[in-house]
Amino acid sequence: MSSLLVLNGPNLNLLGTRQPDIYGRVTLDDIEKMCRSYAKQKGVGLEFAQSNHEGALVDHLHAAKGTHDAVIFNAGAYTHTSVALMDAVSSVGLPVIELHLSNVHAREAFRHKSFLAPVALGIISGFGARGYTLAIDAALSHLGAEP
Ligand code: DQA
Repeated sequence: MSSLLVLNGPNLNLLGTRQPDIYGRVTLDDIEKMCRSYAKQKGVGLEFAQSNHEGALVDHLHAAKGTHDAVIFNAGAYTHTSVALMDAVSSVGLPVIELHLSNVHAREAFRHKSFLAPVALGIISGFGARGYTLAIDAALSHLGAEP
């Protein structure tokens, strides 16, 4: 059975109350439940994690090697700043899907730069919470695990 890590970065624990005009009212708990139920339906294993700390996110990526087959990664603001996360993605050699709830290209210019994009399998941005199930589908299709 394939296994996915869904990894979330800083401030995503505040979804639901954080800038609902941009991110909606859905909480990270809701997103986790949605991912777990979708993964169950698809017959894929799923670990769901969140951290506000860059080094902890690096540790999660390292631990994913040998445990998971692909990573769905909403790195939050670290997307736009973190060479360490880019290097971690390159180092583990797993397919990583960069994910954003909002369309980062329709927002401030500093959000147009992604350190992850050059090392990611692909990017899903602007579809809100639905992006997580789209990313699960994309990961499974990449892994050839979809019927
Ligand atoms: C985000 C977009 C980032 O620019 C921002 O810093 C976030 C959330 C998104 O999901 O839309 O924290 O990754």
